Amino acid sequence: MKKIYQQIWELAKPYYQKGRPMDIDHIEWMMKDALLVSEKEKLDDTLLLPLVILHDVGYAEVPQDNPYKLNLRKAHMKAGKKIAKEILEKLNYPQDKIKTISYYVSVHDNWALGDNDIYKKDIILGTFTDLDFIWMTTKKGFPALMKILKKNKKEMIKYIENNEKLVERPFATKTTKELFQKYLQQRKKGLI
Ligand SMILES: [Fe+2]
Ligand SMILES: [Fe+2]
Repeated sequence: MKKIYQQIWELAKPYYQKGRPMDIDHIEWMMKDALLVSEKEKLDDTLLLPLVILHDVGYAEVPQDNPYKLNLRKAHMKAGKKIAKEILEKLNYPQDKIKTISYYVSVHDNWALGDNDIYKKDIILGTFTDLDFIWMTTKKGFPALMKILKKNKKEMIKYIENNEKLVERPFATKTTKELFQKYLQQRKKGLI
């Protein structure tokens, strides 16, 4: 892991502690797999990693409520854009990249507002949303989401397999598709 990503993470963590502390596991898992996908698919990790680390920092500044509510979705992206910019500027990240990353943060959940095209047009956003979805199938993400969505194991598997994401926003890369299948198989086998 490049030092700069650890530095971004150190500055982002307090926001997650204030927002949704369960996101700390989420981001730590996601950083690891985002690096793996970047390497295999030759993606620009200088954009993907900061996006992964910073995408939900905005929950620190919105009321604690059901994060699936649309107004909160919008508010956390708006607040996140500002916080992401501040953190990256503090670390003297390249200005042009700060602009791109903070834009990504400001639209990262736009699928919830009915926009699926942005993920198809941009490989970084596409890979990001794949990983954000795959989290639900991981060892820590699966039980965390079962709790939030109030589903048992069987219902949770069904929810994932029938998720509109798979149709509306197909996996952006071969590697993310394979990762999804691998984790889902593990959950199906009950390897939690
Ligand atoms: Fe989000
Ligand atoms: Fe996320």
